[in-house]
Amino acid sequence: MAQPEVKTEQPKARITILVVDRTPESRASTSRQLATLPDMELVGTAADGDTAVLLAREVKPDVVVMDVNLPGIDGLRATELLTHDAPSTAVVLISDQNDVGLLRRGMQAGARDFLSRPLGPDDLVASVRSVYEQESQRRSRHGVNGDVAISSERVTNGKVLCVFSPKGGVGRTTMSTNLAIAIRQLTGCRVALVDCNLPFGDIGIVLNLSGTKTISDLLPTIADPSPELLDTVMAQHESGVDVLLAPTRPELAELFHPEHIRQIFEVLRKSYDYVVVDTWASFHEVILALFDVSTEIVLLTTLDMPAVKNIRMFLDVCDGIHYPKDRVRLVLNRADSTGGLRIQEIEENIQHKVAASLTSGGSLVTTSINRGVPFILSDPEAPVSRDVFALANQVLRPEDRKAVSQAADFIAAANKRSLGLSRLVPGLQVRR
Ligand SMILES: Nc1ncnc2c1ncn2[C@@H]1O[C@H](COP(=O)(O)OP(=O)(O)OP(=O)(O)O)[C@@H](O)[C@H]1O
Ligand SMILES: [Mg+2]
Repeated sequence: MAQPEVKTEQPKARITILVVDRTPESRASTSRQLATLPDMELVGTAADGDTAVLLAREVKPDVVVMDVNLPGIDGLRATELLTHDAPSTAVVLISDQNDVGLLRRGMQAGARDFLSRPLGPDDLVASVRSVYEQESQRRSRHGVNGDVAISSERVTNGKVLCVFSPKGGVGRTTMSTNLAIAIRQLTGCRVALVDCNLPFGDIGIVLNLSGTKTISDLLPTIADPSPELLDTVMAQHESGVDVLLAPTRPELAELFHPEHIRQIFEVLRKSYDYVVVDTWASFHEVILALFDVSTEIVLLTTLDMPAVKNIRMFLDVCDGIHYPKDRVRLVLNRADSTGGLRIQEIEENIQHKVAASLTSGGSLVTTSINRGVPFILSDPEAPVSRDVFALANQVLRPEDRKAVSQAADFIAAANKRSLGLSRLVPGLQVRR
């Protein structure tokens, strides 16, 4: 077993780091890179997994930077032991392989981040700072005895609206994005938009958001997600809606389990009044978990036979999983292009009422997607925008709907008196 090299004094304000790597050259270069930074302090190095665990138990560094491939117990097993024995120490694993299976095992072992070589010049430093920051935030929520500190933030019980359709391409992303903004505009409430199209989410593009954090960044601390951590991964859209983006690569979707979804949404609904969720066309277990955590499903369809057939099948699935059908709000998209099908016939066929319809927005919708500016913002007076506002009004909590209606009456009266106050409330001025 290699002899550990330990330094004794550790300045408190710095991030204390243990570097574990089997090759002396890369151990030395990693140590040098981190130790020369003013906010970091190297407290030890080790060349094998057993020494790393012994050393980390004794020194309790803030972060262990560890190669997966080690003599003795490997990096995965060492991470597992550290997660159990020194839970406040965050592990960053490094591997020569960019292998999603390995990534998954690393995360399951409790690693807070996983980097694959070759590393970019700042990758390691950024990762160490990020995991340290997340761990500090987690710790700050706990008192010395492990009690959860009472947050001064208000705790809400937000409404979760899951925009789903069993068929692809019917307008889920278009609808969820514009709906979230419409709710925000009508109510001024805290609204989150979550891209749970885990394999192929594109809300980042549709909203022209360049944030680098995604829902995957919640996985390392998934057992204890906090509103503070959530704040660090939500992207802020200019409309005031906070956005949780989808993973950057399709294979990362595989890392999510139903329990993760439950944990993430438990925090989301405490932090936001409304959570609008985009999904993908599947009955994957993650989607079923989303149904469970949703207050209601906004079920989207177009008026063509294949789409209607899939809706009927979906309603059968609802029966099968005992999902109450009164929590399914059926919405027709592009309802003006019926292709000969009548709404009443459809309702009889599927035994479910159509709650709302959105008209076809033609090139306005396509242009808004390509420009990254939702049509509800660029053209709030367009018929399709009015339809989205009407749907938003329909899904509001009763107390919010009442407040919106009172505000609308006030504005109508003010307009009569030529006060022009409607400009102050963009979502309301469209309905005179
Ligand atoms: N009401 C509408 N009027 C005009 N075009 C629309 C309307 N709704 C959706 N579209 C168009 O239909 C296409 C598919 O929409 P969108 O991407 O929102 O669907 P989706 O269900 O999210 O698809 P995917 O299965 O790829 O996730 C887009 O090009 C969009 O511009
Ligand atoms: Mg989509």
